Amino acid sequence: LSRRALLGTAGAGGLVLGAAGAGVGYAAAPSQATPLTSVGSDRAMFHGKHQPGITEGLQARGHLIAFDLAAGAGRKEAAALLRRWSTTAERLMAGEAMTQDDTDVARDAGPSSLTVTFGFGNSFFARTGLEKQRPSALDPLPDFSSDHLDPSRSNGDLWVQIGADDALVAFHALRAVQKDAGSAARVRWQMNGFNRSPGATGRPMTARNLMGQLDGTRNPKPTESDFDRRIFVPSSGSTGPAWMANGSYAVVRRIRMLLDDWEKLSLADQENVVGRRKSNGAPLSGGSETTAMDLEKARSDGEYVVPLNAHARITRPDQNGGAAILRRPFSYHDGIDADGTPDAGLLFVCWQADPLRGFVPVQRKLDRGDALSQYIRHEASGLFAVPGGAADGEYVGQRLLE
Ligand code: HEM
Repeated sequence: LSRRALLGTAGAGGLVLGAAGAGVGYAAAPSQATPLTSVGSDRAMFHGKHQPGITEGLQARGHLIAFDLAAGAGRKEAAALLRRWSTTAERLMAGEAMTQDDTDVARDAGPSSLTVTFGFGNSFFARTGLEKQRPSALDPLPDFSSDHLDPSRSNGDLWVQIGADDALVAFHALRAVQKDAGSAARVRWQMNGFNRSPGATGRPMTARNLMGQLDGTRNPKPTESDFDRRIFVPSSGSTGPAWMANGSYAVVRRIRMLLDDWEKLSLADQENVVGRRKSNGAPLSGGSETTAMDLEKARSDGEYVVPLNAHARITRPDQNGGAAILRRPFSYHDGIDADGTPDAGLLFVCWQADPLRGFVPVQRKLDRGDALSQYIRHEASGLFAVPGGAADGEYVGQRLLE
């Protein structure tokens, strides 16, 4: 569980350890007589105040998949689908098989920290006659000058995020979610990502991205007093429809890294782009990864030690009117283009109570002059309302769809 300490285990969405699902589903198979390793037996809970897949530590594998409701499918079909998906997510997260037609891909493995998270896109509400329930926070994101967005790989009526520490467990869940969709919804886009495998480093560390940087250092921590207020919609109040209580908004951006250009930079130039050391993530003003950044520290020539356009300077909440997000990305690599360019980067997923007080002001700021922007390209975008977690006996989204 120590690896999890990076993000902590927040409230009801936290992880528990233990041999999963003893006596049920896959656990009945003889091959499971051998105890699972800790990676296999790590388990996130499906039921809780918040949906899983938000505060848990990064998993080694991820799949993002968006669906559009099929022609003729409306609120009734959507409710039945969310009920099917919830049943499947609960079973698979406990290390059990699907109730029907399981593919056996995850047989022999434990839950492996599997999380399955469901969200609704802006277009869902008109399709289901639920316009009055659409939160204003789902208004389309503004255009940014650096956008190179592919609409066919953006947005969607429904969104599912799958994460697990085992590639077969993650793929199994992806197929199960797709099968459950049946004739009610068809796949709009699908993306695959990864992070470092548990146990790959000698001690738990902030993960690196494909540019080689420690990425996630300054994420809000569930132990901080304002964490819930920043990341989750309050359970009462006037900030949106009641069905979103304890939910969160996910902004998803497929951000390609222009690695050939990036890798040509010297180490010093790379560090100036971010404002932190590549080796250990320490701010250029000194100290270690967790030392506070000294924004005022100047060199002998009068220039700031942490450049004014350094990514880690301008994204700070204190430079953006308090705007804060929880970044929980996956790296991706989809092969190499004909010209030799890797199709690789970040499936940037960030969580917030309100995108207008989270992603939008930070991205606006980045748009105005982030040193990193010439080395990245935003290629797809999505914004999804992710309702609170399902209570026992409830399915995800029930408070909206009933
Ligand atoms: C910080 C990389 C895109 C928001 C950082 C850090 C790195 C990094 C290395 C410093 C360490 C840390 O605190 O995590 C990247 C890369 C990106 C990217 C490689 C694209 C491929 C974005 C985008 C946003 C964003 C699109 C939001 C619109 C932030 C924030 C921080 C941060 C809020 C922490 C600032 C603080 O509180 O000190 N990023 N980033 N990043 N980034 Fe990014």
